[in-house]
Amino acid sequence: MRQPVPLAHASRLLNHGPTVLVASAYQGQRDVMAAAWNMPLDFDPPKVAVVIDKSTFSRGLIEASGSFVLSVPSAAQVDLVTGVGHTTGREVDKFSRFDIQTEPASQVEAPLVLGCLAWLECRIYPEPHNQSRYDLFLAEVVAAWADDAVFQNGHWQDLPPEQRALHHLGGGHYLTTSGLLAGRMPT
Ligand SMILES: Cc1cc2nc3c(=O)[nH]c(=O)nc-3n(C[C@H](O)[C@H](O)[C@H](O)COP(=O)(O)O)c2cc1C
Repeated sequence: MRQPVPLAHASRLLNHGPTVLVASAYQGQRDVMAAAWNMPLDFDPPKVAVVIDKSTFSRGLIEASGSFVLSVPSAAQVDLVTGVGHTTGREVDKFSRFDIQTEPASQVEAPLVLGCLAWLECRIYPEPHNQSRYDLFLAEVVAAWADDAVFQNGHWQDLPPEQRALHHLGGGHYLTTSGLLAGRMPT
């Protein structure tokens, strides 16, 4: 079940470097794409960085609305990630093409993609130079959510392979995360 994640723990949803889905919406149009190039940027307020190429249809919706939603997909959704990462909202309604179910976000116009592990609602800090020169978007996380079966009390759980996050290697290949390790300070 989807539960709010305290913003102080939002960075943990991306710390392990998962490939994400970026959803966007503006004035009745919406889209979703895949993004491997994303990272947490700060704790308080939580911030993220995402590369959104200028060739994408998502880019226009994100710049116009000033916001987006990152959904963290599971390994079970690998074909969906590949599908939305190889088609454009300019030509196809990906939500119907890939049978993507959504829920409204709490703070921004873009939707949450159902079936994912975690979600971050983000409002961009307009940085026209970074955006146009490097396709780099910086944003504040204004709400965060996770499925409580996979992320509890600020921690990812030890999950079966199909419920783990996806890590893009390039060229249509991915890895999933492996088992949890707890690090301790050497004595
Ligand atoms: C696994 C994967 C990761 C990707 N990562 C990124 C990324 O980090 N940034 C980016 O701009 N495009 C990335 N892409 C490409 C976009 O998802 C792709 O251009 C998409 O078709 C854009 O859709 P749109 O035109 O509907 O916005 C990735 C594609 C795949 C399959």
